Amino acid sequence: MAEGWHGWDEYAPFYDWENAQTVKRRDVPFWQRLAAAQKGPVLELGCGTGRITVPVARAGARVVGIDRSAPMLARARQRLRAAKLRAMLLRGDIRQLPFRRRVRFDLVMAPYGILQSLTRERDLRETLDAVAGVVRSRGLFAIDLVPDLPRWSEYDRRVSLTGRRGHGRIRLTESVRQDQRKGLTIFDQEYVERRGSKRVVKRFSLTFRTISIPQMRRRLEAAGFVVEAVLGDYEGGPLDLRADVWIVLARRK
Ligand SMILES: C[S@@+](CC[C@H](N)C(=O)[O-])C[C@H]1O[C@@H](n2cnc3c(N)ncnc32)[C@H](O)[C@@H]1O
Repeated sequence: MAEGWHGWDEYAPFYDWENAQTVKRRDVPFWQRLAAAQKGPVLELGCGTGRITVPVARAGARVVGIDRSAPMLARARQRLRAAKLRAMLLRGDIRQLPFRRRVRFDLVMAPYGILQSLTRERDLRETLDAVAGVVRSRGLFAIDLVPDLPRWSEYDRRVSLTGRRGHGRIRLTESVRQDQRKGLTIFDQEYVERRGSKRVVKRFSLTFRTISIPQMRRRLEAAGFVVEAVLGDYEGGPLDLRADVWIVLARRK
């Protein structure tokens, strides 16, 4: 059974290159606004290479990032150093958050589909309970989901990105598989990098589980949250069938 944290170590060297061309920075101001409005500390689940962590720290928030992948975290550390900013980065699993009882966050951020990396119901339940244990009373849990992954069409070995990186050329070939029964979407990725006569091939898979917004609402309520808003874009627009993001803002009771 593929775990949702599988594949990210191998993805780390390519993550920023790919995202500079796909998601870019379109979600960054949303997280900066939300985090800068908090007085107390902010926790980012699955902080990865610091794509969100660094701008949120720049906006003045006291941010703690947690991620299971050491290679992703190494990149986040480099970015923070380069930006001369501070944030606490921890290696750990979001299903068991490693904080003492006294530590409470004003805001817990779950950007860019991190909760979809929880491939079993039990993983989601453990994570929501763990977040409920570290967010302060009346604190905010903000979740950004990639909409409707199980409805994406399947394809096999499509060249989805090509370009230059450093002195070499790089190509991403991607396949999408659906496991409808388990609600899992699996991306098989192959990166080929050429530098002169040298050719390096890296292959890995990423697995995501998507549940509907009503299902997520029920899971959040069971964990002790009240859903305050469901949005369909980063400017506060409503969620409808064309929404290209699903954002849930939940308040701890
Ligand atoms: C989509 S990336 C998001 C990174 C960053 N927040 C961003 O928006 O660019 C998801 C990250 O979650 C991490 N991750 C996946 N499952 C995890 C788990 N169970 N515990 C901790 N981190 C996990 C991966 O290592 C990866 O860095």
